[in-house]
Amino acid sequence: MAVSRRDFVRGLALFGAAGLARADEPLFTAAPADFDASLCVFLSDVHVGGEENSPKYPCDKLRDAVAEILKMRPLPRNVVVFGDLAWLHGMGCDYDVSKPFLKMLTDAGITLTIGMGNHDRRGNFAERYPDTVKTSLVEGLQVHLAVTPHADLLMLDTLQGKDGEYSGPVPGALPENEQEWLTTYLKAQKKPLFVASHHPLHELKIGNKKLAEILAKNRAVAGYIHGHDHRWRREWSHPDWSTVTTLRTLCLPSTGLWGDIGYTVFRVALDRAVAELRQNDFYFPCPLPKERRPAQWDEQLAENRASPVCTFRFRGKEYFEKRPPSDK
Ligand SMILES: [Fe+2]
Repeated sequence: MAVSRRDFVRGLALFGAAGLARADEPLFTAAPADFDASLCVFLSDVHVGGEENSPKYPCDKLRDAVAEILKMRPLPRNVVVFGDLAWLHGMGCDYDVSKPFLKMLTDAGITLTIGMGNHDRRGNFAERYPDTVKTSLVEGLQVHLAVTPHADLLMLDTLQGKDGEYSGPVPGALPENEQEWLTTYLKAQKKPLFVASHHPLHELKIGNKKLAEILAKNRAVAGYIHGHDHRWRREWSHPDWSTVTTLRTLCLPSTGLWGDIGYTVFRVALDRAVAELRQNDFYFPCPLPKERRPAQWDEQLAENRASPVCTFRFRGKEYFEKRPPSDK
């Protein structure tokens, strides 16, 4: 059978993933390059660095994650990075190291969305990813929408650090122009929406109002997903005691720096989405050889692996009553 260009490119991508493709595995598949439009993979807190003192293991973990994603069948339509792609200071050299790995995903036809974390810097990032400046929904920021058939994911920009600032504020915040834009956007939203950013929900406000309250009251909002804490952690919040549906929130593991190490597979269905943890390690603050590895690390890893699922049921009725025929 003929090998399509896309399969050829994907084969090259797998080969390029630092020799992870085994010799007994075919580099080229004759199967059509299937994509699942409802399937996403979430990476967070990648922290790959190009500075001399940056550790090398986060890069190895990113390489492994990319190789695993490229072996998925069907392929996910979307891969979303929840910020802190850079090591510590958002240096251009950080993005130069991670970009070839992320390029393997886009070369394979996957749509890539990258959010800003407190360790990123917009200017250095945009120099490596110039198209993201044009596609951002809010000028001067990195605000993007990842689309699936039954729900979309809105990646907000909550980075407070400025270009040229070596170390910036750690907490997140929504700039004023993004607050205004988001208020309008949420009011008009009918399709189920996941709101996302690098930072935890409790750090974010619109005016004096907590974003958590605003999202919990908006029935189109199906959940809030973030990074920053390097933990697989499910929580929920509610706007008041008269409400029977709650807003679920999910914190994602780090791809490879510290804490829960892995990535998340996200499947969107007609009435819900299910996030599934793929955790391959736990370490803090850094990996240790087997003989020095505390038993506690393996216990925490085993506990997470025993409970790897977070389900978000869509809360709005209007979308189901008025959704377009193509969505039914
Ligand atoms: Fe981080």
